[in-house]
Amino acid sequence: MTQDVYLTGITTTGTPHIGNYVGAIRPGIEASKDLDTKHFYFLADYHSLAKSEDPDKIAQSTLEIAAAWMALGLDTEHAYFYRQSDIPEIPELTWILHGMTAKGLMNRAHSYKASVQANVESGNKDPDKGVMMALFSYPILMAADILMFKSTKVPVGQDQKQHVEMARDIAQRFNHNYGETLVLPEAVIGEDTAVLKGLDGRKMSKSYNNTIPLFAPEKRLRKLIMKIKTNSLEPGEPKETEGSTLYDIYKAFATPGETAEVEKAFADGIAWGQMKQQLFEYINEHMRPARDEYDRLIANPAVVEAELKKGAERARELSVPYLAQIRDAIGIKKLG
Ligand code: TRP
Repeated sequence: MTQDVYLTGITTTGTPHIGNYVGAIRPGIEASKDLDTKHFYFLADYHSLAKSEDPDKIAQSTLEIAAAWMALGLDTEHAYFYRQSDIPEIPELTWILHGMTAKGLMNRAHSYKASVQANVESGNKDPDKGVMMALFSYPILMAADILMFKSTKVPVGQDQKQHVEMARDIAQRFNHNYGETLVLPEAVIGEDTAVLKGLDGRKMSKSYNNTIPLFAPEKRLRKLIMKIKTNSLEPGEPKETEGSTLYDIYKAFATPGETAEVEKAFADGIAWGQMKQQLFEYINEHMRPARDEYDRLIANPAVVEAELKKGAERARELSVPYLAQIRDAIGIKKLG
């Protein structure tokens, strides 16, 4: 059996929040402790262009996301940890893959369709209004990320599953035309990785502006937790854990024993204010060591930069010879 290769990218938009931590960063760091498999985690900074963020925000987000993974203890000796834009073979492969990606396949991408749909609904004459090529061919760049390192398993959220399937289709077409060269990837959707709800009870997401930043300073953390939406049950009235954002967040951090105690407190009618205070104290203590390290890294971006540089060097030991092989297969090669 060949060794599994896990790879996942994190788009550099926004500040890491506790939903990212519970849903992606923590499971990623855990999984990468398995020394029998290879792991690639990278900052998808070219992908952030599809969302046309402003330059300062993209750079700041890159620093914050990289610092978060480092502060939380990713073993960068084993896992490959790099920035997409440091691997020039990725955009090269992206263009090569453009040659075997049907436009019709891209027409079916959910994110593109959603933009068209929004135009149609708002009565725009041009259904493609405001759609940039970076959005349209986003799945091809993502396919290059995945195929560049012969990934077999791609842990992603449900919303990205289609993109991984597209990468597989594109690779198949390549192999059909040019001979077995690319490895077919498969999406891994974490069934039991928690999807946390945000302050307003909807899925925690930057797009809803309802997040709790993972490394919010103490005061801000407390303030945000106090804002979490609850129902109007009074102190002393028994409360359901089902559907409670406070409970879900607590559970995502606490041990089973501690969670059982909170379940009892809910049944006994703990006041919402008290529960919020307890959640704040828990997260605050739990995150403190990583937060101190995170703050240190944010204040020393050169340390983060050095780590990414090291990661890119390691990754390029793989991407440079492999891209040469891919180019050879399609006839872009030395003449003599
Ligand atoms: N598109 C992914 C997201 O927005 C991020 C991403 C970029 C990615 N390249 C990838 C995920 C390759 C997995 C594999 O979440």
